[in-house]
Amino acid sequence: MSTIFRLDSSIRLDGSTSRAVADTLEEAIVEAEGGGTTVVRRDVGTRPLPGAAWAASAFAGFAPEETWTEEQRAARALAAELADEVAAADALIITAPLYNFGVSAHLKLWIDTVITDPRFAPGTETVKGRPAFLVVAKGGGYGPGTPREGWDHATAYLRRILEDVWGLDLDVIETELTLADVTPQMAELRDLARAQLAESHDSARSAGRSVTLKLRPVA
Ligand SMILES: Cc1cc2nc3c(=O)[nH]c(=O)nc-3n(C[C@H](O)[C@H](O)[C@H](O)COP(=O)(O)O)c2cc1C
Repeated sequence: MSTIFRLDSSIRLDGSTSRAVADTLEEAIVEAEGGGTTVVRRDVGTRPLPGAAWAASAFAGFAPEETWTEEQRAARALAAELADEVAAADALIITAPLYNFGVSAHLKLWIDTVITDPRFAPGTETVKGRPAFLVVAKGGGYGPGTPREGWDHATAYLRRILEDVWGLDLDVIETELTLADVTPQMAELRDLARAQLAESHDSARSAGRSVTLKLRPVA
């Protein structure tokens, strides 16, 4: 029996590449686990967290508990609820669209709020070594030699948090050129975009099959 925590952050449901690739990954894990998997979901793309709660929870961390206001108590409770979801997971799937060359504000807010819980502050090891997958979708291309090489300011930041701050055993699956089909200037990149998408689904499938080895040690 294993628990997967899945966090989605695309602001759309229909046509979302990050959700579609994560679906492939999730299905592969669930299938490999033979039905004994619970998937706990949180969708901050369509149901964002309240921004003020992060600030209230952060400031509560600098004050004695007996002085906390009602707002601070509620914010700490929300942070604890989010942290519980991560702490209870045997594996994590986090999806991340690239917005305005950076991380989704909703995803950043989730991270900032979780970090206010003492179990996830820098230096803690609550989920150290657990398998995690970051599924990134980008409209353009950012590879070496492309005009916008270095403009993806989301992926490196997310790696920093998930790998270096929380110590997760992270696999990153990136899909680029997702806007090729709807952007006339990217018409000549459509075949490449299709190939990259197929490759991402393949990577997700094989990553999903292999994670079970980590969840359930081979006898
Ligand atoms: C508000 C907004 C801002 C975006 N900014 C960028 C960007 O800066 N660079 C980029 O390559 N794509 C950008 N995109 C395109 C998304 O990265 C692309 O559609 C991606 O596939 C989104 O993930 P999703 O398919 O899971 O929704 C943007 C899309 C939206 C809606």
